[in-house]
Amino acid sequence: MLSNLQPQSPDKILALMAEFRADPRAEKIDLGVGVYKDETGLTPVMRAVRKAEERILREETTKTYTALPGEPAYREAMARLILGDDLPVDRLATVASVGGTGALRVGIDLARMANPALRVWVSDPTWPNHVSILNYLGVETLTYRYFDAETRGVNFDGMIEDLRGAKPGDLVLLHGCCHNPTGANLNIAQWDEVAALLAETGATPLIDLAYQGFGDGLDADAAGTRLIASRLPEVLIAASCSKNFGIYRERTGILLAICPDSATRDLAQGAMAHLNRQTFSFPPDHGARIVTTILTDPELRRDWETELEEVRTGMLDLREQLVRELRERSGSDRFGFLAAHRGMFSRLGATPEQVETLKRDYGIYLVGDSRLNIAGLNKNTVPVLAQAIIDVGI
Ligand code: LMR
Repeated sequence: MLSNLQPQSPDKILALMAEFRADPRAEKIDLGVGVYKDETGLTPVMRAVRKAEERILREETTKTYTALPGEPAYREAMARLILGDDLPVDRLATVASVGGTGALRVGIDLARMANPALRVWVSDPTWPNHVSILNYLGVETLTYRYFDAETRGVNFDGMIEDLRGAKPGDLVLLHGCCHNPTGANLNIAQWDEVAALLAETGATPLIDLAYQGFGDGLDADAAGTRLIASRLPEVLIAASCSKNFGIYRERTGILLAICPDSATRDLAQGAMAHLNRQTFSFPPDHGARIVTTILTDPELRRDWETELEEVRTGMLDLREQLVRELRERSGSDRFGFLAAHRGMFSRLGATPEQVETLKRDYGIYLVGDSRLNIAGLNKNTVPVLAQAIIDVGI
């Protein structure tokens, strides 16, 4: 039977990760996969995470199953982190998930249960795994214009024009902040327009919030999501704790469903728990417990927020430095967009050949669409990248 299997095309980001690991060059620079690295190239365990784990180790009394939707304290703490303290409690269904990807998967499955003819709108471009999951599920996928290759900003008019084609029963997948792969984000006035348009079309937003705290700060990065949540009767939010808590391998995420009324909330809550059960049964708890411990302890929370701020501002400094180095070498401001982008990523706007040359001749790894991970840089490698960008003629 298994010999009937067809080879799967590898995930481009993960394939690049393997290629980088196999590259013997000492001076190689990994700007591929979206993982934060400090100036020594390490992805550190955050201080508050370490302390929370020590406390859990001391105080945990059992490893028996958690609840099917995950621990209530985790779900409440995360809902508050994402939506703020003014929660629509009567309309809110929540389940813990296996990372942000697990939340996306359960969210799409939930929408498909409610509407077997589901269509999902994704930004052009989007995180490749969005499209891959939708294709795997056989869900019709439509794209809306998003990135303006000229300005390297958002093509907002194109986005709005395309999303006018959305209808009730469709999902519109939005990046809550730190758009992956472009780094170009909506401002709050644009979120406002998107909310109005979605209300007009009757489509349901699915917000992927994987980088809260990496752009403009924890609250600022949730502002678009909160605005949508306050305006629309129905909103799905898939959030990840991988990046902002640095607990990538603990697979910690959450799916929130804001529903039109409490009766629908009960239906959604039941369906989401059922989907957890069918997919993996109980969600993993260790990462969720770390997150709950941090978010509910004022001292740990302060420490976590401080370290997250250091990470965020460190990335902004690297952006500024890169723009400066490129300005000096190019004699122009044409790379200024790198300082306007937010989060880990920027789309440089290089051709696939130029990306290949950077890898082959300089050992600098970018994703094929010329997405670069700013957090893969440090003060010493920024000038190396800037020179290489100029050398290959980007
Ligand atoms: C990325 O886009 O690099 C990250 O989200 C990691 C991944 O799983 O692709």
